[in-house]
Formats: sequence, C-alpha cells, structure tokens
Amino acid sequence: MSKVLLIGAGGVGGVVAHKCSQAPEVFSSLVLASRTQSKCDRIRDQILKRRPSYKIETAQVDADKTQEVVQLIKRVQPKLVINTALPYQDLTIMDACLETGVDYLDTANYEPPDEAKFEYKWQWAYRNKFKERGIMALLGCGFDPGVTNIFCAHAQKNHFDEIHTVDIIDCNAGNHGYPFATNFNPEINIREVTAKGKYWENGQWVETEPMAIHKVFDAPELGPMEIYLMYHEELESLCQNLKGLQRIRFWMSFSENYLTHLRVLGNVGMTGIEPIDFQGQKIVPLQFLKALLPDPASLGPRTKGKTNIGCVIEGVKNGQPKKLYIYNVCDHEEAFRETDNQAISYTTGVPAFIGAMMMLQGKWKAPGVFNVEELNPDPFMDELLVRGLPWIETVYYDT
Ligand SMILES: NC(=O)c1ccc[n+]([C@@H]2O[C@H](COP(=O)([O-])OP(=O)(O)OC[C@H]3O[C@@H](n4cnc5c(N)ncnc54)[C@H](OP(=O)(O)O)[C@@H]3O)[C@@H](O)[C@H]2O)c1
Repeated sequence: MSKVLLIGAGGVGGVVAHKCSQAPEVFSSLVLASRTQSKCDRIRDQILKRRPSYKIETAQVDADKTQEVVQLIKRVQPKLVINTALPYQDLTIMDACLETGVDYLDTANYEPPDEAKFEYKWQWAYRNKFKERGIMALLGCGFDPGVTNIFCAHAQKNHFDEIHTVDIIDCNAGNHGYPFATNFNPEINIREVTAKGKYWENGQWVETEPMAIHKVFDAPELGPMEIYLMYHEELESLCQNLKGLQRIRFWMSFSENYLTHLRVLGNVGMTGIEPIDFQGQKIVPLQFLKALLPDPASLGPRTKGKTNIGCVIEGVKNGQPKKLYIYNVCDHEEAFRETDNQAISYTTGVPAFIGAMMMLQGKWKAPGVFNVEELNPDPFMDELLVRGLPWIETVYYDT
C-alpha cells in the first residue's frame, strides 16, 4: 500500500493515473501534479466517475524548479515519484528525489530544451549519487523505450545464448481524421522525427539523413506499413546491455500524408527550435506550431485503428540460428474506453504503471540508476499480459 506522486497531466499521465486507480492494493493513493492544475483536476474527475472511492488529490507544480518539487515531495511524502512531464524536467525531478530520498521513474530520457539531442549521458551521470543515497531511478519505462527493452531482456534470458541483431518496429495504423496532428507532445515528436537517422552496427554508430532508409513491413493485424529508420533512445542502452549484439535499428511507420506535411513545415521553417524575432518578441517556431496543432489528448475520442510495436530478434541458441518476433497490438478505441486516452498514451502509460508496481512491490529494487533491460523481465512480462498489453511471440526457426 503506497502513496505515489505523479508529475505531468498529459495523455501519458492520464493513463498512469487511471491504471493506478485500478490497483488500489498497490497504489493506495495518488497525488497528480502538473504545471496546469486544471488538467490534473480533469483527470481526477474522470477517475472518480469510474471509481468514486479512490484517493486522488491534485496539485500545481513547476517541475523546472527543483525546489518546488522538493516542497511538494516533502508535503506529500510519496514512496515513488513517477515523471510523465516532458524530458526537459527529468534532471530537476531527479535532483528533487535525491534531496528527499525518494525513488524515481520516467518514460523518456533527458533532452536539453535548446538542443534536439537526447542521450542518456546526463541521467547516467546520476548513477553514483542515487547509489550512495540508497534510492532507485528507473529510466525509460514506457513502450519504446520500455517494453521494447524488456522484450529484448526476455529474449536474452529465455530464448537466446547470444543476440546478434534487433529491429524494433513501431507501427501505428490509427486514424484521427485531422489533416495533421501528432500522437504525443508535438514538440518532442517533431524534434524526434526530423533528426538524422542513426543505427548501431559492429560497435559503431552509422548516421543517415532523416527518413532516408525505408521499407514495407507486414505488421500483424495492421497489414503492410511503410516503415522508416530513425534514431531512438533505447538503442543507446541496448547496444551496451545485449550479449553478442552486432546490429540494432529502430523503425517507425509514417503515412505519406504525415511526411508531406512535415516536409512542408520544415521547408518553411516551422519546425525550427532557434528563437526568431516576431513583432518585437522572441518565439520558437516549433513551440508556435505546437500551439496551433491539436492537443494530443484531444485525439482520443476520434482515433480509430490499432498500433503494433515489437522486436524482430535474431541470434543463436545451442549453436543453432534462431529468430523471434515479439509484439503487442493495441486498439485505440479500446484504450480510450478504458482510460479516456488513445493507444499511444496507453502503450506508454501502462508500462510506466507496471514499472512503478515492480518497484513498489520490491520486485525491482536496487540503489542506482537503471534502464529497464537491466532488471528481471519475467514479472514485468507477466503483468503486461493481464494489465492491458498482452504480447505475442513467434519463433520462426528453432534448434
Ligand atoms: N517511452 C515511450 O514509449 C513514450 C511514448 C510517448 C511519450 N513518451 C514521453 O511521455 C511524456 C509525456 O508525454 P505526453 O504525450 O503525455 O505529453 P503531454 O500531453 O504534452 O503532457 C505533458 C505534461 O507535462 C506537463 N509539464 C510540462 N512542463 C512542465 C513543468 N515544467 N512542470 C510541470 N509539468 C509540466 C504538461 O503541462 P502543461 O499542460 O501545463 O503544458 C503536461 O501536463 C513525454 O516525456 C514523452 O516524451 C514516452
């Protein structure tokens, strides 16, 4: 029975809050805090409509300010802080956890606001500090990163002696009916997809132009999808943590319509992150674009279709080649019926909730800073099956 502080009241935070309220035996009460308290209140009201006796409070916090988070933690006295705000707040919230001696979990690695560059180096630099303080930080516990890392750890533990190649494939066949919108925070999403592609092979990073490499992938339950090679943060930790790895790549599906809009916006400078002068004030074009685009949280009631995210893994077992495809299919409309949010938020929020559960139940408990594949995948894989993200695995050829 634990009290938890959840920071960030967007789509992902909403799903985490709903799921916690479904497991009061673990998450006995929840404080949901964010920059805009009315967004927390809205989620609280949605939850209380479904479960009137659940103990949930809301609060206002600017998580860019470590001392505001410290004061909130001191008042709330949680066992764990779950960060579903933006990557920009990772370090300030980690600092607050260090000061107060509370465990930490997030779903996306730190990114400096003025540089579109996400790397674990900033958060890995906290390893000794968390270890010495006797507290745990769990990084990247969404779907990708998160479940995709755990699929790899499961494959390493239960299927392979050595993993040689991994292809992480994230397909979304959802349709929200808008000409252009992003499924999660537009600023973070567009920074990610306009960056150069990068994959890891034989100990080296290979860089490509954005969206330069693509192919068709026949995704179960979705059909043929055009997928594009991108850089994604889990590659950085997995290339260090998988035994015998020779190559790891990440692919994401995009429609031609999405890419055409993005190309035009990029060509006219709307995806830039350098401030420009506009009528006497400085504005960041991408932040202005975010203000124009539909709020991802508003896509929930309109989105139909499914996501399919998984890993194709090849390696050897008992000296024989072996290939495994492991994936989850999530339905946007079912996710919305359960949590008032579409599948992109659902597939991120459910793993964050399960990771928090692992930590609170002591199944994942060690001082230091960890990526999820460093922990025992078995109890997490079991929970995925019963908490809304069942996985399917197919062995293509075996020993
Ligand atoms: N691992 C994965 O699979 C995965 C997939 C998708 C997303 N993610 C990550 O999940 C996180 C949440 O995504 P989302 O789609 O829910 O984003 P979102 O809808 O934009 O929500 C972000 C929330 O954080 C709040 N916030 C922003 N700055 C804050 C601050 N300084 N102090 C307090 N609260 C602040 C926002 O408040 P306001 O409303 O006031 O702006 C909003 O409530 C992001 O870090 C994203 O990168 C991970």
